[in-house]
This record gives sequence, C-alpha cells and structure tokens, in this order.
Amino acid sequence: MNEENIVQQEQDIQAESRWIGTANHGFAAYAQEELKRIFGSVKSSVLIHGEVLLLTLPAAPEDVIARLTSEPPMFLRHIQPVRYDLVLEQIEPEQHPLDALTELLLKREELYGISLSVQVRKTGDANVEENMSELRHLLEERLASLHSEYTVQNPDLILSVFWTADRLYAGISLPQDNLSDWNGGAVRFQREEGQISRAKFKLLEAEKVFGIDFTSFRSGLDVGAAPGGWTSFLLERGMKVTAVDPAKMHPSLQNHPNLKVVRRNASEVKLSAGEFDLLVCDMSWSPKLTARLVIDLLDAVVPGGTVIVTVKLMHKKPLALIKEVIHTFEEARLQVQRAKQLFHNRDEITLYMVKY
Ligand SMILES: C[S@@+](CC[C@H](N)C(=O)[O-])C[C@H]1O[C@@H](n2cnc3c(N)ncnc32)[C@H](O)[C@@H]1O
Repeated sequence: MNEENIVQQEQDIQAESRWIGTANHGFAAYAQEELKRIFGSVKSSVLIHGEVLLLTLPAAPEDVIARLTSEPPMFLRHIQPVRYDLVLEQIEPEQHPLDALTELLLKREELYGISLSVQVRKTGDANVEENMSELRHLLEERLASLHSEYTVQNPDLILSVFWTADRLYAGISLPQDNLSDWNGGAVRFQREEGQISRAKFKLLEAEKVFGIDFTSFRSGLDVGAAPGGWTSFLLERGMKVTAVDPAKMHPSLQNHPNLKVVRRNASEVKLSAGEFDLLVCDMSWSPKLTARLVIDLLDAVVPGGTVIVTVKLMHKKPLALIKEVIHTFEEARLQVQRAKQLFHNRDEITLYMVKY
C-alpha cells in the first residue's frame, strides 16, 4: 500500500460529520436505528425528546448526503448540517447570540447575493423570549449586508439554526440535502374551507414528497374512503373515483358526477379487471389485514398502476413490521417505490407502490 493510500484511509477513518436529525414525535429512536443500519455507528444526544437528535455520523458531509439520497430513510424526516456550534455561556454577556453567529456567517462568501431560506428552531428550554419566526426576522435583519433575497420556496441555500438551552447550532445546505426543504421537515398546508378531513394532508404531502402526478390518473379506487378527504383530493385532480366504505361519505360529496360510492366492506365488492390505474387505501386498520385486503383487490388495477397505502404501526417493532408488510406486497407483484413516515402520518407510514 503506498503512502497516498494510507493517508486516504486515515482520512476516511477520521471523517465524521455532525447533524441535527428530526423525526415525527416518538419516532427518533427508529430514525437513529435506520442511520445505524446505513452508517454502522451513530453517536447521538437528545435535543427534543423522541423527536430531535444531535448526531455524529462516521462519514464526511458529502458522503452522508449521497448515502441518504440513495437509501432514503423512512423515519428520519429532516437533517441539517452542524457547521457552527456556539456555546452560549462563552458569548460575552453584552453580545446577543445572534450577533455572534452573524459575525461567522458574514464571512461565508456563498451566502452573498443569493436566494436564501432562513429556518430557525428552538427547544422548549432555550433561554430566549422570541418565538421561532421572530428569531428568524432578527437574524434576517442582521444578515442584510449579504444582499440576499429571503424566500421560503426554492431557495439557493438554506441556513438552519437550532437554539437550545446552552448552544446555538447552525449550518448551511442545499435544499435537496436536508431530506425536506421545510423547516424541520414540518410540511404545512393551509386548511381549506369545507375541508372534509385532515387525512387529505397525507395525500397532498405524498404528492409533493413522492413527486406523484395525480392528474395523470384516469380512474381511482379509494378503499376505506369515508368521510372522504382522500376522495375529494382525487376528484380535485380530475379523476373518476369509486369510494368503498360501509360508513357514510361527507354530504358535500353527494351527487358528484365523477364519484361512485359503494357502501360496503371492501372484502365484499366486485370490481372489473384493470378498471383502475390508481388504488389508495387509508383504513387505520391492522396492517396485515389491510395488506390482504388490498392484494385481493389488485386485479382491478392495471399493470403499471399506482397503489398508495398507509400502514398503521401498532406493533412494538415497527421496522420488523414494515419489512414483513413490504415483503407481502412485493410477493403480490407490487414494487415499492418509497416507504416513508410523512409529517402528516401519525402512528403510520405511507407506502407508494407500482403494480407490475
Ligand atoms: C381513517 S378513515 C379514512 C379516512 C379517509 N382517508 C379520508 O380522507 O377521509 C378509515 C375508514 O376505513 C373504513 N374501513 C375500515 N375497514 C374497512 C373495510 N374492511 N372495508 C371498507 N372500509 C373500511 C372505516 O369505515 C373508515 O371510514
């Protein structure tokens, strides 16, 4: 082995990077488990219980991003680099912590004259009065000499700041490198007037996160459809919908010209082969029984059709349960495109699959 190789190996061994990782509340341990499976070892400490972790990963930042892009995690919702780690107690009492951070940031050439998204979060015990949006404004004001344009949508770079009881962490990243370009991966949608259910947010988020073009579908089957949040979303995207549920659909959907309601248990319905190019199922039911039921309806979906199913994590070992459910679907000629706990999923994940 030549000297260059040895130096390279030593650098690889030494390569480490620090991050703040976020999962849905209660799922941080699973996000950590996933990272362990990808990177071998993970050092972590808790910033927000069950939700936000300070992570040290045994790889350089660009390797971390490359691996998370090629193996997208299910539970890790958001990741931000930690480039600056300011110990609050070491900052002069007369200096505002944001001034200390600003001094460092103004040295960063890549922050000048771009479109920039400033995202600030804090822990409940952070000793600062302002809320997160006020802190963002204060930082933006201080960074005025960057002559960058502040934006939420499609920024060139994201500046992420995380304020805890004793530290101020910050990092700069490309939006696509954070797993989500929303602050902490918290995807917010405006509640619409007359919106039938919050469940609709799950499909809206799946549309964005998985990049699914719902306007390309002709005919959708919604299994476990009541009260009709998902059905209303599918109708809005312009498809004909068959909604199956013994329970009542919301009155606002009555007499919709593109909707057929079947008030039955899904195991009892008879459908024609290849009738649908989309099947969605959101039953909040036993995952194994849901999988069986969906598989029994698959003849009604054309080859190449899309299937979206929420899988409830009622089990103590969600990773093992998900593996088993995915295996069941894969045996039934469904190819999993993505498995992910969306921000709007509670104790569940969303599977995005294609029938082949
Ligand atoms: C969480 S709700 C669905 C919410 C819906 N996605 C929305 O956006 O409004 C679950 C529904 O599944 C239905 N369901 C449960 N088991 C079913 C079955 N075997 N066949 C059909 N529907 C079922 C329930 O009646 C219930 O209305």
